[in-house]
Amino acid sequence: MTRRARKRVAILISGRGSNMAALVAAAIDPAFPAEIVGVISNRADARGLEIAETHSIPTRVVPSREYDGRAAHDAAIHEALTELKAEIVCLAGYMRLLTPEFVQKWKGRMINIHPALLPSFRGLDTHARALANGVRVHGCTVHFVTPEMDEGPIIAQAAVPVLSNDTEETLGARVLKVEHRLYPLALRYLVEGKVRMSGGAAVFSGVDEERGDLAIVSPGQCRD
Ligand code: GRF
Repeated sequence: MTRRARKRVAILISGRGSNMAALVAAAIDPAFPAEIVGVISNRADARGLEIAETHSIPTRVVPSREYDGRAAHDAAIHEALTELKAEIVCLAGYMRLLTPEFVQKWKGRMINIHPALLPSFRGLDTHARALANGVRVHGCTVHFVTPEMDEGPIIAQAAVPVLSNDTEETLGARVLKVEHRLYPLALRYLVEGKVRMSGGAAVFSGVDEERGDLAIVSPGQCRD
């Protein structure tokens, strides 16, 4: 039996790259249905670039200041993605707003991970805001990218408890741990065609929702 070709995935980063590393680690398994064909950063000092290089993944830096405006920069990113023959784009801590034109080109094929349970806490400083608001549950979300920041249809979420003695750092670390589990899982559903974007919504097929396929609840205290 011939194995279906693995989908070609490129990752956009701006910094640390721990989610990128989680995707790379998942894709090392030949059974994972996607391969990471390249990592693109808008910053030359992104630490994730080194991690990608240790895995012999092609990297590319496309610094925004070398382009005249956001549209030109996004066009350069698009060109780099085209050169990589990328079929799917994962944003993993990519800290630049994308133009609607770029988003349109990758509609339904570009996903992002956000460190909060959307639609709560869009934008930055999510852990500090979760603490300030006294929420008892916090987490992360993988969603399709649409022109409005952190607004696209939700694919999967992971929830963690908020402890009364949490700091931004301890809470952020707890969320990050589940981010690293959630992102590969969500990417797998996308490349397997079990989730797609249609009419501005995420549409699922062949997903066991009752088993919790799209919802990680950590540390797993859900009992009947
Ligand atoms: C993560 O918290 C991710 O959810 C957010 O930016 C952060 C990136 O961290 N979009 P890393 O670069 O993946 O370590």
